[in-house]
Amino acid sequence: MAAKLATELESFRSIWKGGFFGADPLEPLDSLYGLWGYTSMQHAIYLACIKPYINSKTSAVEIGPGRGAWTRAMVGAGEVTCLDALSAEHNGFWQYVGRRENLRYFKVEDFSCSMLADDSVDYLFSFDALCHVSFDGISAYMASLFPKFRSGAHGFIMVADYAKYNSFVENLPRFDVTRTLLAKNSGQLKQRLVDVYLLPLQTRARNRAPWRPLNLSEDDVARPGRWYNAGGTRTCELLEKLGYEVLDPDMELDYRSPVIHFRKR
Ligand SMILES: C[S@@+](CC[C@H](N)C(=O)[O-])C[C@H]1O[C@@H](n2cnc3c(N)ncnc32)[C@H](O)[C@@H]1O
Repeated sequence: MAAKLATELESFRSIWKGGFFGADPLEPLDSLYGLWGYTSMQHAIYLACIKPYINSKTSAVEIGPGRGAWTRAMVGAGEVTCLDALSAEHNGFWQYVGRRENLRYFKVEDFSCSMLADDSVDYLFSFDALCHVSFDGISAYMASLFPKFRSGAHGFIMVADYAKYNSFVENLPRFDVTRTLLAKNSGQLKQRLVDVYLLPLQTRARNRAPWRPLNLSEDDVARPGRWYNAGGTRTCELLEKLGYEVLDPDMELDYRSPVIHFRKR
């Protein structure tokens, strides 16, 4: 066995002079597998922010589930409580997620989270929802949730940060995977990328509303579907003031907006 293992080691000695280098893990668009080395932002958020924190004993809360895209990723929890400004019927929630014993849905009338018992929540998730809530609303939610959280409970919340959003809009090419791949590759692959991906993508992008910078000094007046510039730093300061511990001010999984990771000590 020892000789076999020694031969195994020896078999590698003459290759990869200079050190194998596939791709830079710190570069979000560098890919070891070229075209086939990408995962979506949503899936990365699921893998980093949901999957490790959910098991059959977890009592999870989601703010603003909408139709339930993320809720479906949490149904393995012991129980999931969803709070939304819109009714489940309006959101088509049950049709999409399916009725389950461990799933509760509340159309909220205020920010008190009164349907949750004290010391009962292990995990909070909210994506693309608190960006539609004013800073006062976020403050009220997070204050209400503090006594509901168990010690050690984790939270992941995405909030709007217009400075981060505007930096994304101003640097769109930096985040464009097709440009990265075209710059790295030549010949047949390049042509395939242009034909199969770039041209259809450009047509789709042209047909969609263009990304526009947001006004940093926007008003605070309620309008349907609007965003509110809570700001990543301001929200982290709020969380710390309320007694939570911010573990990561931005998971950096969403190019547009911070996803804050925090917990109750
Ligand atoms: C853009 S949708 C996102 C839905 C879902 N989180 C997703 O990513 O697919 C925003 C959701 O937040 C909900 N929402 C807005 N204000 C809210 C509030 N104050 N409390 C709870 N939910 C709210 C909306 O009703 C809507 O379902």
